[in-house]
Amino acid sequence: MFLALAFTLATRVMADDFRPIYHFVPEENWMNEPNGLIKIKSTWHLFYQHNPTANVWGNLNWGHATSSDLVQWTHEPLAITSENGVEAFTGTSYYDADNTSGLGSSTSPPYLAYYTGYFPSNGTQDQRLAFSVDDGVTWTKYPGNPIISATQESPHDETGGLETRDPKVFFHQASGKWVMVLAHGGQDKLTFWTSSDAKSWAWKSDLSADQVEGLPSGITGWEVPDMFELPIQGTNATTWVLIITPANGSPAGGNGVLALTGSFDGSTFRPDPVDPSTLWLDHGRDFDGALSWENVPVADGRRILASVMNSYGASPPTNTWKGMLSFPRTLTLKETSSKRYFLQQPVTELALMGSPLASIRNQTITTGQTLFSSIHGTALDINLAFTINAGAKLSLAVRKAASEQTIIQYDQTNSSISVDRTTSGDISYDPAAGGVHSASLEPDASGVIHLRVLVDTCSVEVFGGEGEVVISDLIFPSETSDGLSLEVTGGSANLHSVELRGISLS
Ligand SMILES: *[C@@H]1O[C@H](CO)[C@@H](O)[C@H](O)[C@H]1NC(C)=O
Ligand SMILES: *[C@@H]1O[C@H](CO)[C@@H](O)[C@H](O)[C@H]1NC(C)=O
Ligand SMILES: *[C@@H]1O[C@H](CO)[C@@H](O)[C@H](O)[C@H]1NC(C)=O
Ligand SMILES: *[C@@H]1O[C@H](CO)[C@@H](O)[C@H](O)[C@H]1NC(C)=O
Ligand SMILES: *[C@@H]1O[C@H](CO)[C@@H](O)[C@H](O)[C@H]1NC(C)=O
Repeated sequence: MFLALAFTLATRVMADDFRPIYHFVPEENWMNEPNGLIKIKSTWHLFYQHNPTANVWGNLNWGHATSSDLVQWTHEPLAITSENGVEAFTGTSYYDADNTSGLGSSTSPPYLAYYTGYFPSNGTQDQRLAFSVDDGVTWTKYPGNPIISATQESPHDETGGLETRDPKVFFHQASGKWVMVLAHGGQDKLTFWTSSDAKSWAWKSDLSADQVEGLPSGITGWEVPDMFELPIQGTNATTWVLIITPANGSPAGGNGVLALTGSFDGSTFRPDPVDPSTLWLDHGRDFDGALSWENVPVADGRRILASVMNSYGASPPTNTWKGMLSFPRTLTLKETSSKRYFLQQPVTELALMGSPLASIRNQTITTGQTLFSSIHGTALDINLAFTINAGAKLSLAVRKAASEQTIIQYDQTNSSISVDRTTSGDISYDPAAGGVHSASLEPDASGVIHLRVLVDTCSVEVFGGEGEVVISDLIFPSETSDGLSLEVTGGSANLHSVELRGISLS
């Protein structure tokens, strides 16, 4: 009891610790990427790689949280634990609606969770299954684990099963089979497996970098696959989408998330040729290990992604937690005569939170003017639509004080958006924590540039245009850097509309 009291006092003293308002972070200690994202009835389930005993990577379990709106999360007990020398690495969940696994109870069909078993003693990785017959509240490890042993992996993995992980599992209607996609880390390849009963699996095919036409070189260390069918906007067609998190080769360096389209016959994925300009789902440093929610009702129909924002290991300057979930974003696919590209937007549930701080309609801003200098806030949702003169730059500064600011800028000279963290606050914790991330963004057909900027304490997520360009970055400003400014240099801009909302949760 004494210890419990001491802990309460300690957490109160460290209350701030860069804890975000509307992004998920663990109650305490380490998280890396999300796992097993699934909606069950009206509840969004978030599982995640979690070390419950230390604020560093290691001793990995599936942490668990639930939400009714993807914004406010309730911490739940560990879902899949590290046990008997086997840690629970990354994986995915799926609803076994027809009970083909036979793991359902007489009244409840089973929800299945596939994860990689990791033996820290010798580095072996095998594939395992857990199931829930109480709508995802508790999870039972399948007694027949592993469902794919290191021995069975061996012929398909150069390391004999030291690098076989992150199972993405789904039921493929057209072939009537279960499909598993596994990543093989440094071998830059995925393997595809199928099953009739969701428990015993057979290898079917490999997908490696040399099979992806147009894939730039240097995109290595493939991990955390996700795969699903997505409608192509404006057509009646769908296509298969395969998401991968490589460890190298992303626009901002470090882990990044890319998305391929292609066809899938139930055992082999045939990728479409890659357009390097539309390959990456994020141009910032901090969007790593993306997975999407399964079992979202057809009436909702959204494909919603989340990843972990943190590509610096244990280095960021937080003490009570490490690793934050990106704000959940929808993924759609658009096609024009010349291009096919993904669009991402924050889920609309955010619009129900918070209150207006400022609103502008049809106002011209010229060099020398500063807007928003009397507004303060550290958890914000900002929408801008504007036109800009040739040669001008529009700069939105957030988390601003005399000597600190993070600048989101549109540069008309090369049609680009950027996030500049050079003076964002503490950037000493990692060589990659400062600098500028930039990406091309064209105005819409009427010449209007759209930006959506989410700011939450220690993060900035910038969605450009309809969401065809995203930049996500962590920042660690002083607590008192809560100012804003909107300025133009080199000309003027017409602000068609600006909506600035402060986000607070009830
Ligand atoms: C699932 O299958 C098992 C094994 O046949 C059976 O015992 C159980 O009742 C089934 N559950 C459901 C919900 O169909
Ligand atoms: C790794 O260690 C586990 C647990 O001790 C053992 O069961 C397994 O056989 C080992 N694997 C290899 C390839 O040595
Ligand atoms: C989609 O299907 C509907 C119904 O069959 C049809 O009326 C429509 O023309 C189709 N749209 C396109 C873009 O093919
Ligand atoms: C914007 O403001 C200008 C100058 O006040 C006015 O001429 C114009 O009609 C306004 N445009 C819109 C769309 O309201
Ligand atoms: C646009 O120009 C700026 C300033 O020269 C540069 O920092 C940025 O990288 C450029 N962005 C792109 C996408 O080319």
